[in-house]
Amino acid sequence: MKKRAIGVFDSGLGGLTILDALHRTLPHEDLIYFGDSANVPYGSKSKQTVTRFSLDIARFLENEGVKMIVVACNTASALALSELRKQCHVPVLGVIEPGAKKAVESTRNGRIAILGTEATIRSKAYVKAIFKKCPQAHVIQQACPLFVPLVEENWAKKPATRLIASSYLAPVLRYNADTVILGCTHYPVLKPVLASLLGSQVKLVDSAQTLSQAAMLFLHNRQEQETTGRGKLTIYASDDPARFKRLAGYLLKEKIGTVRLKKLNA
Ligand code: DGL
Repeated sequence: MKKRAIGVFDSGLGGLTILDALHRTLPHEDLIYFGDSANVPYGSKSKQTVTRFSLDIARFLENEGVKMIVVACNTASALALSELRKQCHVPVLGVIEPGAKKAVESTRNGRIAILGTEATIRSKAYVKAIFKKCPQAHVIQQACPLFVPLVEENWAKKPATRLIASSYLAPVLRYNADTVILGCTHYPVLKPVLASLLGSQVKLVDSAQTLSQAAMLFLHNRQEQETTGRGKLTIYASDDPARFKRLAGYLLKEKIGTVRLKKLNA
């Protein structure tokens, strides 16, 4: 079991930030990443559709022999996690739970803001996870549908992005939240602009680190953690691997090797 890879998936590129964190925390593990570039974005799709895509990807990863599946996509974690857990034969970890835990631990005034895709916000998955841990918390949600395309276009540093972000963040600032969950794979790329608009007293929570720690603990407790050798990264995209590889360069500091094409249901 130890030798088997960890499967990681996202609707597209954004989950590479999670892959990066996993690779740093678990450097001996082989990681297989699947980016569903043929079907991105998930954030504007229904629960039924996102669940169907997620199950297809999980089946592919299970066929690749993974020992665990990490759902790097916030939208898929919010909408499809329980169905994935029902249908998969290996453990499935999502990003919502670790993000909510980190936010609850970090807030001082009990006021937490959640930024995410429309589907994640509609699902209230973060709100439920926060209230489970801290029923007295105060929570505000804000969908930020323009952030994903801005990041994918490498527009993070453009004035237009700052203008759009200031409009999305206005209610968050009025709410006086001291902790903001970056509830989407792409938002960590916008950290500099979000931090400068929110001010240094506001903590930005990105679940990559917490999720990686949770994955490590999970494998360790099951004695399934690989502790020798250098882990290898294998990356699949469901459409246009060349574009995927080019855009990945904006998101990741580390160079990625070949991106292989894997069409779902093909
Ligand atoms: N990966 C998605 C998420 O974290 C963002 C991109 C999309 O909408 O598919 O919610």
